Amino acid sequence: LIAFFKPKPLAGRRVLMTAGPTYEPLDPVRGITNISSGKMGYALARALRHAGAEVQLVSGPVALPAPAGVERIGVMTAAEMHLAVMQRVAHADVFIGVAAVADYRPDDAAEHKIKKTGEAPVIRLARNPDILADVASLPAAPFCVGFAAESRDLESYARGKLEAKRLKLVVGNLVQDGMGGDTNRVVLFDAAGDHPLPAASKDEVAAGIVAHLARMLDA
Ligand code: CTP
Ligand code: CA
Repeated sequence: LIAFFKPKPLAGRRVLMTAGPTYEPLDPVRGITNISSGKMGYALARALRHAGAEVQLVSGPVALPAPAGVERIGVMTAAEMHLAVMQRVAHADVFIGVAAVADYRPDDAAEHKIKKTGEAPVIRLARNPDILADVASLPAAPFCVGFAAESRDLESYARGKLEAKRLKLVVGNLVQDGMGGDTNRVVLFDAAGDHPLPAASKDEVAAGIVAHLARMLDA
């Protein structure tokens, strides 16, 4: 893979990205989360690094080692991920949101373990900040890339996110094609059109995304 990226198309580019799920505590031993192995985000971090980029990876809890040469910042909640991103975004040329961020968190996490009682509790939720949308709406926003994992109507939802969040590129996939496994099939959506990449290993898909990104940044 390293040889594949000679000469390095992203040399000198500073990339800030998120990956993995977030975990929103309900009490000290329980919480709500999204399903995300982190594999696609970590593969992309590696591919960006191999292409010469300086990579900072803000990661939710995953069972993966930090990619070599990448600075990993570990977080648990969406609020922590938002803060970690906002503290670093001024230095970034590119921001890529790969994380499966929980859209909601329990409104009021209990300090102590919730005990089982006769009646089933009702969990109130509060909205989490949209990290990618907040970054993209900064006055000096970096080049922003989003991911869209959908269970249906991929093109319309992905294009909707491209416009609503004012992104330059959205990487879309159907959850049934990528989740948890080592392969993925994605379509890149940008202002120029739809660019389907062949189904392949997540490392190969990541290389395809990096090649497309490098072309856009050089255009
Ligand atoms: N994202 C984010 N912060 C959030 C929610 C999403 O940064 N609170 C980012 C994701 O990392 C991804 C993109 O936004 O790059 C799209 O996430 P997705 O969950 O597909 O979109 P939402 O806008 O949350 O819409 P919905 O869940 O309703 O499909
Ligand atoms: Ca969401």
